[in-house]
Amino acid sequence: MSEQSPKSPALSNLSREERRFEPPAELAAAANVKEEAYARADADREAFWAEAAERLDWGTKWDQVLDWTDPPFAKWFVGGTLNASVNCVDRHVAAGNGDKVAIHWVGEPDDDTRDITYAQLKDEVSKAANALTDLGVQKGDRVAIYMPMIPEVVVAMLACARLGAPHTVVFGGFSADALASRVTDCEAHVVITSDGGYRRGAASALKPAVDEAVEKTGDLVRHVLVVRRTGQDVAWDDARDVWWHDVVDGASAEHEPEMHDSEHPLYVMYTSGTTGKPKGILHTTGGYLTGTSYTHWSVFDLKDDDVYWCTADVGWVTGHSYMAYGPLANGATQVMYEGTPEKGRWWQIIQDYKVSIFYTAPTAIRTFMKQGREVPDAYDLSSLRLLGSVGEPINPEAYMWYREVIGGERCPIVDTWWQTETGQILISPLPGVTAGKPGSAMKALPGVAIDVVNDDAESVGNGNGGYLVIREPWPAMLRTLWGDDQRFKDTYWSRWEGLYFAGDGAKLDEDGDIWLLGRVDDVMNVSGHRLSTTEIESALVSHPKVAEAAVVGAADETTGQAVCAFVILREAAGDGGPDIVEELRKHVQKEIGAIAKPRQIMVVPELPKTRSGKIMRRLLKDVAEHREVGDVTTLADSTVMDLIKGKEGSAASED
Ligand code: WTA
Repeated sequence: MSEQSPKSPALSNLSREERRFEPPAELAAAANVKEEAYARADADREAFWAEAAERLDWGTKWDQVLDWTDPPFAKWFVGGTLNASVNCVDRHVAAGNGDKVAIHWVGEPDDDTRDITYAQLKDEVSKAANALTDLGVQKGDRVAIYMPMIPEVVVAMLACARLGAPHTVVFGGFSADALASRVTDCEAHVVITSDGGYRRGAASALKPAVDEAVEKTGDLVRHVLVVRRTGQDVAWDDARDVWWHDVVDGASAEHEPEMHDSEHPLYVMYTSGTTGKPKGILHTTGGYLTGTSYTHWSVFDLKDDDVYWCTADVGWVTGHSYMAYGPLANGATQVMYEGTPEKGRWWQIIQDYKVSIFYTAPTAIRTFMKQGREVPDAYDLSSLRLLGSVGEPINPEAYMWYREVIGGERCPIVDTWWQTETGQILISPLPGVTAGKPGSAMKALPGVAIDVVNDDAESVGNGNGGYLVIREPWPAMLRTLWGDDQRFKDTYWSRWEGLYFAGDGAKLDEDGDIWLLGRVDDVMNVSGHRLSTTEIESALVSHPKVAEAAVVGAADETTGQAVCAFVILREAAGDGGPDIVEELRKHVQKEIGAIAKPRQIMVVPELPKTRSGKIMRRLLKDVAEHREVGDVTTLADSTVMDLIKGKEGSAASED
């Protein structure tokens, strides 16, 4: 039992049945999607997705739901036309919901807040579309967006969508080099940015990075449109730079939208590739909007009076699908927060805005666990009715903490599996319909054909592990990699004929429910046994003294690979005591078996994470294999590796 969670029974004391979350009957009765949806979608997948597409407003209706004659190049809702920005904004105003709040924006300095209604959003988007047109942006032109979490970033995205100018949003934490390579790859002539933003209460600059990036791209960029957010001094090029307030504020709020082809490009999102050139994932309009709006409505069981909050930054796909497009297409009210997770601040926001649906990442949950439950316990979180998780496998211990401490044992948790490439959630429980098991993403959504296969592409069947693949196209799937059809085929479709390979390992339990095992390259083979890094991490984290853990498979002469673990201890555990390493090894042995017992455990103060919060196991592997540590440029804090290297040897224990 952990010091921080006196009421929480250790996971290992609970039976399998006690860990399950069975949806209460009233939840099932009121759920947007019922059990029958699975069978209906299986019977006629295309009819199922066509019905989901009917939830949108179309200019011209499609004449064919899916064209899959030239795989892997899918076309959805062929012949249909629509405008994404009209679907996200205008239609809600036309339906009489103009006064409904679209965005409760919470700025980083506490008192800086704005409530933006759908009517106001429509005016802002129309003005921005007019201003961009005046700057020469035409249908088909690419526009790069490099901004903090302020409402203008959503306005900018929707204005681009309105014009049919695909946007590419680059996370504000990326360097000038990263921005330059993305601007170059998609040949953007316009960059939208701000003078800076606020992080941890202090203003930081963005415009200098844009200036540097633009410099690197030669004469590609014609205009830089700049929102004034912080008021700090910025260098200015009169021929190129334009203030947002000069050209958008005074523009007409009338803008006649054109209907775009269903397959018209909506945006390009570059994945934070670990090696080589970043991959520009291309999403198009009709299928993407259908997939994101339907899954946002079904997975989060969205109701008219919900207040939804997705904590992702708009610079990642989660911010695109489940902050911008999905919720807005559904006319939802949501919170948008400029800052980063700090002690108590998120719970304060949930309390203040009576947030009912909350969607975040396991890494954040584990950070909060480390701080102790007394922090969230000081706030009123009773407005919450549904919790979501995304981005990495959620270990059962974090799941239980989330369910109990944040969700008060009343909120179902939707553990949602998807990728930048899939555009929409593909695997998740449906609240009220599917039971929850801590650590399992449960089932493919209706209309989605997921399978787990072996090396020969054969289904492994219940009780076995293998590779996660997708057998049938889905509406929000990536259409290609920007400018590189061949790489698109090679990366995702070449391993097995006709199957999309997601790069993840997965296991089907005895009930056929899906457990994600992390990227395939994180799965270890120790003495011929397949072991999951995630499973061992979960075991470590279930020890009361451990806050976070990362496990890598290091080359080993005898066993092929050996388990090496890096752990951060909870604040209350101090230095863990003299026998901490042996204690943890025994604990893993007890939880999983002797085969999983780490060869080496290092107690470290931090773990290397990317800016999106993913642990960079590659670097830990370098340490475990006593190599020079590789490229650290994608780390949120590049000094972390020095701290870890400094510990090398000190806490290691080897048999
Ligand atoms: C991982 C984020 C387990 C997975 C939306 C996938 C998950 C990669 C989950 C995509 C989950 C995402 N359980 N693993 N619920 N969600 N992943 O492109 O390895 O940033 O392939 O998209 O994150 O990451 P991406």
